[in-house]
Amino acid sequence: RLARRFLNLDDFQGAAKRRLPRQIYGYYAGAAETEQSLRDNRGSFQELALIPRVLADVSRRTTAKSLFGRDYRLPIGIAPMGLSGLSTYQGDLVLAQSALAENIPMIVSATSIMPLERLAREGGADWFQAYLPGEPERIDAMVDRVALAGFSTLVLTADVPVPANRENNERTGFSIPLRPSLRLFVDGLMRPSWSVGTFLRTLSDAAPRFENMDAFRGPPVFSRNLVRQIGARDQLSWSHAARIRDRWQGKLVVKGLLSAADAAKAREIGADGIIVSNHGGRQLDGAIAPLRVLPEIVKESGSMQVMIDGGVRRGTDVLKALAAGADFVFIGRPFLMSAVFGKSAVRHAISIMAEEIGRDMALLGINSLDQLDASFIRKIK
Ligand code: FNR
Repeated sequence: RLARRFLNLDDFQGAAKRRLPRQIYGYYAGAAETEQSLRDNRGSFQELALIPRVLADVSRRTTAKSLFGRDYRLPIGIAPMGLSGLSTYQGDLVLAQSALAENIPMIVSATSIMPLERLAREGGADWFQAYLPGEPERIDAMVDRVALAGFSTLVLTADVPVPANRENNERTGFSIPLRPSLRLFVDGLMRPSWSVGTFLRTLSDAAPRFENMDAFRGPPVFSRNLVRQIGARDQLSWSHAARIRDRWQGKLVVKGLLSAADAAKAREIGADGIIVSNHGGRQLDGAIAPLRVLPEIVKESGSMQVMIDGGVRRGTDVLKALAAGADFVFIGRPFLMSAVFGKSAVRHAISIMAEEIGRDMALLGINSLDQLDASFIRKIK
C-alpha cells in the first residue's frame, strides 16, 4: 500500500500536509523570508546534468559507502530536525529506529523532545547535533553528556547565531515555544488523526520538553522563557569550536558552513568533517545553495569528510553531489514528512532512495560510488 501511495520522496510532503495541523506543517516545510534559498537548493541540482558511460558492465554495483570507519548501506543519512517528535508519536525514535534498520546514519537534533540517552539506547543513534549554549562550562557539560551516552559523532551546528526570520510561522501562529492558542486548537480539531494519535498521546506520556539543549533536561515545549534558558548563542566563535575539539574524543563535524575560508577554519581546529549546508534555506535567506560552493570547499577540506545537505530529493541528486566532490549526503524534510506515517513509511522512503541510487548507478555506468568525479557532471545553465 505504501509502495503505491508514495513513489518518490516528494510524495510524502503532500500527504503530510493533509495530515498535520497547519502550524506544524508550516514549520516543517517552510524556510526564511522569501524562501529564495529553499528554492535554489532544488534549482542548483537541476542546473547540473549527468554524463553517463554506456556498456560499462554494471552488474557488480553496490550503493554501500563508508564514513568515519562505518559501512553504511547508502551514501545518505537523515539530517537533524527539531521537533521531529511532533511528526508522529515518538517521531525522534521512529526516525532513529528506521535509520538503524536500514543501516544509514541519523543525526539526533538538539531540539528533539526525547532524551538523547534514550535515542542512543533504543534507537541506536550515534550522531548527535548540538546547539550549544554560549557559556564554556555549559558547553563542557553538554559535550560530556553526549560522550557518556555513547555517541560517536558530534555535529556542531554553526549557522544559528540568532533565530531566523520565518514569516510563515508568524502567519500560521507557530512559535518556539509553542503558544497554545484557539487557532492551534481549532486546527487540531480539523486534523483528528494527528491530534489524537500524536499530540494527545505525547501529552499524556509527559509534557514535551526540549531534552537535549543542555547538560540537563531543557524547558517545556510550551515554555514562555525558552530563550532565556538557552542563553545567548551569538557569542559563539571558532574558539568555542576549538574548545569542544579539545574535550570531545569522538568525531567532530561542523554543520552549516558555505565558504572555503570557513572550511579551512574547521580543518585548522581539527574537525573530522563538515556539512556544507544553508540549513535547508531556514536561516539566512539568499544564502547560496550548498551544491554551488561544494567544489571550492572540497579543495580546502584536506582530510576532512565533506558532507552536504539541502534540496536532495532523488537518487540522481545524490550522485550529482558525490560527483561534485561530496563524500556523503544528508536529507531532511522528506524523511520528516514520511515519519508522519510511521516507521514503515520512513523505511519505505529510505528504500525508494536505495532503489533510485542503485538504478541510477547502472544507468550512469558505475559499479561503485567511488568512481564518481566531475567528469560525470556538467553545468547546463
Ligand atoms: C531543520 N534543520 C536543523 N538543523 C540543525 O542542525 N538542527 C536542527 O535542530 C534543525 N532543525 C530543523 C527542523 C526542520 C523542521 C527542518 C526542515 C530542518 C536543518 C536540517 O538539518 C537540514 O540542514 C535541512 O533540512 C536540509 O535540507 P532539506 O533536505 O530539508 O531540503
